[in-house]
Formats: sequence, C-alpha cells, structure tokens
Amino acid sequence: MNPEPVQRLKLSLGERGYEIVVGEELLTRSGEFLGPVLKSRRVVVVSDENVAALYLDLLRDGLKCAGISCHDIVLPAGERTKDFHHLMELLDRLLALHTERQDTIVALGGGVVGDLAGFAASIFLRGIDVVQVPTTLLAQVDSSVGGKTGINTRFGKNLVGTFHQPHLVLADAAVLESLPERQIRAGYAEVVKYGLIDDVEFYEWLEQNGAAVCSGDRQARRYAVSRSCAAKARIVAEDERESGKRALLNLGHTFAHAVEVETGYGDRLLHGEAVAVGMVLAFTLSARVGLCPIDVRDRVHRHLAAVGLPTDLRAAVSDRSHDDGIADSLIEHMSQDKKVRDGRAAFVLARGIGSAFVDRSVDMSDVRSVLLESLAAPGPQK
Ligand code: GLY
Repeated sequence: MNPEPVQRLKLSLGERGYEIVVGEELLTRSGEFLGPVLKSRRVVVVSDENVAALYLDLLRDGLKCAGISCHDIVLPAGERTKDFHHLMELLDRLLALHTERQDTIVALGGGVVGDLAGFAASIFLRGIDVVQVPTTLLAQVDSSVGGKTGINTRFGKNLVGTFHQPHLVLADAAVLESLPERQIRAGYAEVVKYGLIDDVEFYEWLEQNGAAVCSGDRQARRYAVSRSCAAKARIVAEDERESGKRALLNLGHTFAHAVEVETGYGDRLLHGEAVAVGMVLAFTLSARVGLCPIDVRDRVHRHLAAVGLPTDLRAAVSDRSHDDGIADSLIEHMSQDKKVRDGRAAFVLARGIGSAFVDRSVDMSDVRSVLLESLAAPGPQK
C-alpha cells in the first residue's frame, strides 16, 4: 500500500529553522524523521498517561528501528499539569535519568505536554533540544509550532515561559482518530483563526469543509493541518518574538484567557472552546467600535456554532452569569495578560474576515459593554 503523502513545510528562522512534517502513520517512521536532527542517539520522551497508553510504544519502536534509545517520563493528563510543581518533577526526573546536553526531549502529547516539555528543555542544563510530536489537533495546528513554551500560574495562562524553537515538528494526522470529538472541535477553533486573521479563501474552504475536518475526513484533516501549519510558519518566520505580526495569532485570546482564568482551567471549558467564545467577542467588539458590520460577527458565530463549538459567553460562565461583578472580574484578568503594555491590553480586532489587526488603544468601556451585553443575552441565532 502506498504511504499517505507527507508534506515537509519549512519554518525559516536561519540556524533555528526547522521542518514541520505533516502526514499519516508517521510515528512508526519516527526514527527516519528524528534521526537526522538528533545530536545523540538518546531521547527522553515526555508524555501524559492518556497519550502514552496509546502511542508511546509505537514511537519507541519507530525510534528503535533507527538505533535511537528512548527513556520516558509520563505525567498526569490535563491542563493542571502545566504548573511549577510538575515542571520541578519533570526536571528532577530528567536529572535522575542522567539526561545529557546532547540528548533530546521528545514531547509526545497535546499542548500541555508540548508547552511543559518545551519549557523544561529550554532551562534544563541551560537548554537542550526538543522535538515536538503533537497528538491533538490544537497542538498540531498551533502550540507545537513556533517555540512558545510555558506554564500557568494562579494569575493566568502561560505567564512563565520561554521561546525555545523545536528541532522538528512531527504532526501525524492519523493519531487524531483516537481524539474525542470535543477535543477535535476545540483544536478546530485555532484552524478557523488562521482564516479569520488573513486568509478569507481558507475561511471559505472551512465554511464548506469544516464539518468534514471535525468528523474525521482524513484528506480534509490533513489539508487543514498543513495549511494551518504553513500559516503559522509564515507568521512566526516574520516575527518570532511577537513584536508585531505574531500578536495576530492571539485573535480571541485576550477574552479567552480571561474566561479560562475565571472558569479555572478545568475540563469545563477547553482552551480551544474558550478561543471560540473569544473570537466571537473579538468580532462583536470590532462591530461595536464600527470596524465591521455586525453580519460579519454573525457569520463567524454561525460557522463556529455549526461545528458544535461554544460561542456564548453567558453559557461559558453559566454559574456566575447573573453576577454583576463578572464583567469586572474578566477585565481584571485581562489586565494581568502578558500582552499588557503600559497598562493597556492588546486586542486583535478585524475589519472583516481575513482582515485582522492588533489594537492597543481599545477603550475598556467598550470591552465592558460587550461583556455585559454578551452576559445578558444569548449569542446571535444560528
Ligand atoms: N499560539 C500563539 C503563538 O504561538 O504565538
């Protein structure tokens, strides 16, 4: 049987550039892809309990075929693992395994594992290499690419971390088949984000094919992953440290992070779900300040709702939606966002689909009004 096509995308960052390999059944061929980028024949795979049970052996066998030896560190699954406590545990276990400077950490998992393992790699022995093997749609299309690493604190998401580019990203779309639909949809929100930022043609393709991507059409999924990775690679290559264009990737995220702090990073609202709610709020704010017609917000809302993503702030914070203080509480969380400069939060606003830009001059009274209106009324009808 012919193997499925493999796409090799480049993230051009000079000496720190690397390939993003997108395809299917890549874990069994991991040695072939990792071999050329490793400095030693020894890796430490960092994973979580759920992912390790499904894919660790496959990855290990693939590495073994290329003569690469492999230790593993398996952590509890879930966003709460992305904290100081688990970072310390991970560093201790790397030391206990006598991990050396030439060895490579392989992050096998979703965004939590990728961010935590990437952060550990960036500080362990003053920095060792990391390869990202993302196993969720969200990690494949966003968090594994671009070198952001970090952990959460009680003040907010990803407030402590580093930029540490991986040496390779291996995105095996076949592993997405074992993901619960809810996780696929959450990742899909980040796919939609690329269309909304600057690619109206991709957005229109998603309006036609989003249901196929979410329900498991392999070709549609591969296309969505590789087009998203290409978009992210293009943006990161232009602005690695987020001094300009990369901030566009935060479309919906200023709202989303505040909602996540409010709801406590649990399973109640996954990151991608919060991003879907946040993107609707970003377009609502854009319409409110006269940048785009309200129909544009409605079109974004329709598509996200059609694939089953949450879009309604009131439902997202349902147990407190009648609490008068919640809008202020969300605004307070926004003031802790790491993109705050001179006390002003950054918002990604849009003049239309595919025309997003960063605005640091948003009047917080407009944000407050959008929050209050969204908390008072259900979102627009499908
Ligand atoms: N997830 C946003 C970024 O990588 O910049």
